[in-house]
Amino acid sequence: MLAKYNAKIAGTGMYVPDKILNNFDLEKIVETSDEWIRTRTGMIERRVASTEQASSDLAYEASLNALKSAHLRAKDIDLIIVGTISPDHPFPSTACVLQHKLGVKHIPAFDVSAGCPGWIFASSIAKQFIENGTYNNILVVGVEILTKITNYSDRNTCVLFGDGSGAAVFSRTESTDIALIIDSEIAADGSYGDILIQKAGGSRNPATEETVRENLHTVYMEGNKIFKLAVRSMYHACDIVLKRNHLDVKSIDWLITHQANMRIIEALGRKMKIDKKKVIVNIEKYGNTSSATIPMALDESIKSGKIRSGDIVLMASFGAGLTSGSLLVRI
Ligand SMILES: CC(C)(COP(=O)(O)OP(=O)(O)OC[C@H]1O[C@@H](n2cnc3c(N)ncnc32)[C@H](O)[C@@H]1OP(=O)(O)O)[C@@H](O)C(=O)NCCC(=O)NCCS
Repeated sequence: MLAKYNAKIAGTGMYVPDKILNNFDLEKIVETSDEWIRTRTGMIERRVASTEQASSDLAYEASLNALKSAHLRAKDIDLIIVGTISPDHPFPSTACVLQHKLGVKHIPAFDVSAGCPGWIFASSIAKQFIENGTYNNILVVGVEILTKITNYSDRNTCVLFGDGSGAAVFSRTESTDIALIIDSEIAADGSYGDILIQKAGGSRNPATEETVRENLHTVYMEGNKIFKLAVRSMYHACDIVLKRNHLDVKSIDWLITHQANMRIIEALGRKMKIDKKKVIVNIEKYGNTSSATIPMALDESIKSGKIRSGDIVLMASFGAGLTSGSLLVRI
């Protein structure tokens, strides 16, 4: 498609709950150790939402921060897209709840269920809507409260997940603007759907006493099967956008991948032959926050001054579906 306009990231924001759950806390809950978690995943601590907090509450705080950094008000937004697998409710969408919290009406709002790349998928949609001239400013949020769908008797999964939200405002750019959404790529392979799944609560297995007793409403994951697919699919998503834009890895200033496991991030970095110093990591602080990992890392890196105006940032994610995707931007 020939774009009528260009899109850019005009501002970013994030929010994490105050409560910290560290590896030593987890040692008291399941048969695990700080040493195992640290060496096998790179994680040290993660944030946990309070019982009162729902995903829209985290999304709201991240959105306010993103709007502030874009120098916009909620009424300037034309569309809200939320990537999440832990919505407030199966329906209405968390995006509609967020729209109401932000005090805006008469703009569309919807969720994207694409597993951990939810924010990348949502960004790809936002890019199209700006490029074809439909909207000027789109709020794109990634938010999760995974700790409420985690089985804290399963050590294979419960050490991995945390809560948080990241948001970005996508806006139409002037041709003189250096910032640009260069490209994006999204993909899915439903044949791997059963290795990362919330088995009950939908129309396949509606909630019953038995589904609750058997913990079927929590994350089920076959971690080591996903590991290899993660590296392969993120590599592929990065390779496609680089080749399509006649760029090589050396042209990239920063790589932000989904923060699911430090060993996955390192394996991808090795496969891409990218300088380790260019790979942004914050997994030690937040664990895996699914669709929030990338916008959170992006916001932290911009606010800390690591990523600067004009830098080329390549982002890549993978997750339940299985899905994968990449986003290439100049900040
Ligand atoms: C989950 C993951 C950390 C497990 O690491 P791994 O090195 O693959 O470990 P394995 O699953 O092979 O298990 C190795 C051993 O560690 C044990 N183990 C698993 N979790 C443990 C924990 N928290 N503490 C201590 N031991 C643990 C296993 O029981 C197994 O023991 P065994 O050999 O006696 O059977 C890793 O596979 C992973 O990160 N996968 C990808 C996850 C992911 O990206 N998910 C996507 C979500 S979006």
